[in-house]
Amino acid sequence: MLAMNYRGPFRVRAQQKPMPEIEHPEDVIVKVERACICGSDLHIYHGLVPDTRVGTTFGHEFIGEVVEKGADVNKLKIGDRILVPFNISCGRCAFCKQGLYSNCHESNPEATAAGGIFGYSHTCGGFDGGQAEYARVPYAEVGPMVIPPDIHPDDAVLLTDVFPTGYQAAEMGGIKKGDTVVVFGAGPIGIMAARCAWFFGAARVIVIDRIEYRLEFARNFSHCEAYNFESLEDPVLFIKKTTGYFGADVCIDAVGCEAAGSALQWITGRVLMMQAGSATALHWAINSVKKGGIVSIVGVYGPTDNLVPIGNVVNKGITIRADQCSVKRLLPKLIHHIREGYIEPRQIISHHIPLKEVSDAYHIFSAKLDNCIKTVLIP
Ligand SMILES: NC(=O)c1ccc[n+]([C@@H]2O[C@H](COP(=O)([O-])OP(=O)(O)OC[C@H]3O[C@@H](n4cnc5c(N)ncnc54)[C@H](O)[C@@H]3O)[C@@H](O)[C@H]2O)c1
Ligand SMILES: [Zn+2]
Ligand SMILES: [Zn+2]
Repeated sequence: MLAMNYRGPFRVRAQQKPMPEIEHPEDVIVKVERACICGSDLHIYHGLVPDTRVGTTFGHEFIGEVVEKGADVNKLKIGDRILVPFNISCGRCAFCKQGLYSNCHESNPEATAAGGIFGYSHTCGGFDGGQAEYARVPYAEVGPMVIPPDIHPDDAVLLTDVFPTGYQAAEMGGIKKGDTVVVFGAGPIGIMAARCAWFFGAARVIVIDRIEYRLEFARNFSHCEAYNFESLEDPVLFIKKTTGYFGADVCIDAVGCEAAGSALQWITGRVLMMQAGSATALHWAINSVKKGGIVSIVGVYGPTDNLVPIGNVVNKGITIRADQCSVKRLLPKLIHHIREGYIEPRQIISHHIPLKEVSDAYHIFSAKLDNCIKTVLIP
């Protein structure tokens, strides 16, 4: 079968690979219909995630048709079209039982922190992902959901990560009626978080990035103010001034470990790897939020240390909330939002690219070319 194949940092190819097989009675094999490229994939593409092995296939956002199933799979039938949350969850450990599906204790034998994630290095379990013609889905009765017939396939594929993650970013911010919310990052996650902030009663939503076409997209899709930090003297000072020197009620970090904007952070975190990535957006979020405010982090960071102003967290009494999104928990609510017409997630998709052109697709998304917001690969 044709699959995306990691060859090393900044090098991916579409290549032939053996078909995945049922390895456990709870597995299914899906014939992939659509698979997205995520900002998280860029961290592995750029060589920042430990134990990313040559030959692995990325892709944790995919939908497809069940073509084979293990003996213990009863809820799914051959021919069902399913959407597959990016988290791999057993459904029965203590964490899954609390709804913390992203923190499953069973699906990733390598770690006690992150659960298993499709196509996200051996640090996250070593599962091949869905940027391929076929993919193996473990614990198939737990995460995947049959796609309701009225849900568009492009909306379905965004329900595997982007829409739930943006929603959870806003939810973790504890946004109350009348709040001012600042979102760092105008990638798919940031614009979705900004859009979802209104669902919780925000009165003012501000997005910060440095890519003009994304800021323009955010203004239209997320109905927010959007500013280029490169034309602001100091983004933190700007946010303080525009909030009467109080700071924002809620700040969301939707950038993660490859943030631009500070030479110190970039060199120590991204070039020398002396810390787990460049934490500039998180630094700004902590310094821009008001005393007693909430910082919600969905941007991805490595498992070790980062240079962040922890003293300001203490002295300002900030609450920090963070997690990988627990997709499964949010699906019923978000499908309701789509059905009611509150949001059409697929509006953020800028590119549909054949899987065989995966190398170009990564380059376009990584280099932010061709006004790229979100790319869907079609096998
Ligand atoms: N927690 C989760 O479950 C989860 C799920 C999906 C993605 N993520 C993470 O969310 C982050 C965003 O994902 P994405 O798909 O939107 O990625 P993306 O790369 O498309 O977007 C990131 C954006 O941040 C901007 N940026 C860089 N430095 C900045 C700064 N200092 N301030 C403000 N903006 C800055 C970039 O210009 C870019 O537009 C990534 O770290 C990704 O790994 C987390
Ligand atoms: Zn993703
Ligand atoms: Zn579990």
